[in-house]
Amino acid sequence: MIAIACDHGGYELKLEILDYLRRNNIAFKDFGCDSTEAVDYPVYARKVTAAINENSCDKGILICGTGIGISIAANKVPGIRCALCTDCFCAEATRQHNDSNVLALGGRVIGPGLAVKIVDTFLNTEFSGAERHQKRIDLIEK
Ligand code: RB5
Repeated sequence: MIAIACDHGGYELKLEILDYLRRNNIAFKDFGCDSTEAVDYPVYARKVTAAINENSCDKGILICGTGIGISIAANKVPGIRCALCTDCFCAEATRQHNDSNVLALGGRVIGPGLAVKIVDTFLNTEFSGAERHQKRIDLIEK
């Protein structure tokens, strides 16, 4: 189950991502927002990260204007490893190396075609499981 949320700056891009998830029969919970009316991105970061930490969702997607604010907010939450990606190389590497559980995107930074490819890469790449990567991930929480 994928948790997804955005602020007003990410709303239009979220619609494209929701379309991708529906077309691919990927189950998701949409935590808002529901329009381009201004809202506060930390509120939406908190909803998605809570769903992951409560185990009702396995991965999250967060979208704001740049992807920066919402990823900063998400990464304050213990257990969350949120990666802001603007290309597929980083989306693949952050799953393999960091076992990232949240992807952040900037709705004012990348177009929908690239964003969908990044989401697809993120959702379909497994953590390598390599000991060196696990050790580093463990060090983040210490
Ligand atoms: C909202 O205008 C904008 O600041 C927000 O979407 C995001 O880009 C913050 O990092």
